[in-house]
Amino acid sequence: MILVTGGAGFIGSNFVLDWLAAADEPVVNLDALTYAGNLGNLTSLQGDPRHIFVHGDIGDCALVTSLLAQHRPRAIVNFAAESHVDRSIHGPEDFVQTNIVGTFRLLEAVRAYWGGLDVADQAAFRFLHVSTDEVYGSLAKDDPPFSETHRYEPNSPYSASKAASDHLVRAYHHTYGLPVLTTNCSNNYGPYHFPEKLIPLVIHNALAGKPLPIYGDGQQVRDWLYVTDHCSAIRRVLAGGRPGETYNVGGWNEKPNLDVVHTLCAILDELSPRTDGQPYRAQITYVTDRPGHDRRYAIDAGKIERELGWKPAETFETGICKTVQWYLDNQAWVGNVTSGAYRDWVGKQYGAQQ
Ligand code: NAD
Ligand code: DAU
Repeated sequence: MILVTGGAGFIGSNFVLDWLAAADEPVVNLDALTYAGNLGNLTSLQGDPRHIFVHGDIGDCALVTSLLAQHRPRAIVNFAAESHVDRSIHGPEDFVQTNIVGTFRLLEAVRAYWGGLDVADQAAFRFLHVSTDEVYGSLAKDDPPFSETHRYEPNSPYSASKAASDHLVRAYHHTYGLPVLTTNCSNNYGPYHFPEKLIPLVIHNALAGKPLPIYGDGQQVRDWLYVTDHCSAIRRVLAGGRPGETYNVGGWNEKPNLDVVHTLCAILDELSPRTDGQPYRAQITYVTDRPGHDRRYAIDAGKIERELGWKPAETFETGICKTVQWYLDNQAWVGNVTSGAYRDWVGKQYGAQQ
């Protein structure tokens, strides 16, 4: 079996669902259920003995040690993190705690477990750390995309904390020989995406008749990857990646934020038009820019394609249509995650601008 951390979040839950759809290998899913963790993402697995959910923290060494001893996983996929850049600007401490200290404690528990395996199991074992393209910093308009050898230059407390965790993972390979793999992926989108992030926030606000907030001039560029393509890349790296290596994962889909929002508005105009006949783009509102906002991310996903034969299956056009349709079909899920604490966050981040 494998141990997945953060498997009740956006990408982790998509990964668990995909994993169990593709193979019968059980998953132990360790998640602290922060505001971003939602067991409602996994309701289709209720009663499935292949999915064992454990409520807990990756930083809880005693818990992780006992889970490893009990389930003896052959691999760990570490998704658990604080993941939202704006939240890291309001309050960096949780990011340091989970992304740095939590990853360190997880690595320590795993190192002890791995050290006790026999030689064959040690060689077969993998620790896959899920990271981000944001560790590389920001690109100018004509710069080549990030390759795996691009220097680390994180600009936000979030990306700095992810960079620190990447360095720890790397060090555990070089110093202790732990067979680690790291993936650095671009912006994901798709089902179960928490509506604090641009794409689900815009869909949610559009349908609720609220402003669609564009930070600054809206010309910041992100590379977008449909979430199940990220999941298939992780499976591929886990199966064939070389220990100690890092793999960049991306969709070859660079888009300015304003174009993404215009695309979402056009799809919604088609699938769920406003009752007053006005286009959704009329709700676009320019708001104060994110402090330290990275201008452009772009990923060179050539290494994972050359070495492991992975390519995304979705284009931005197919993935974004599926995503909008999913949100229209799953308004109850959105209703559940946008109550209570979510409303407090929106008030804090957008204030009178909402
Ligand atoms: P998310 O915020 O939706 O989910 C994070 C999950 O981790 C939640 O279920 C949360 O409860 C859990 N968690 C948080 N702290 C924990 C702790 N201390 N112990 C155990 N569980 C904890 O995040 P996501 O968007 O699904 O991202 C998952 C991973 O992928 C993160 O490591 C993130 O840095 C990375 N990543 C995300 C993207 C993206 O576009 N979302 C892109 C590249 C990489
Ligand atoms: O690049 C990978 C990263 O992508 C992941 O590591 C992060 O976990 C994930 O949150 C994401 O970070 P971003 O900051 O790029 O995603 P976000 O959806 O927050 O913002 C996307 C872009 O849209 C960014 O340039 C900021 C802008 N934006 C965002 C929000 C929430 C707006 O203009 N308005 C908004 O209201």
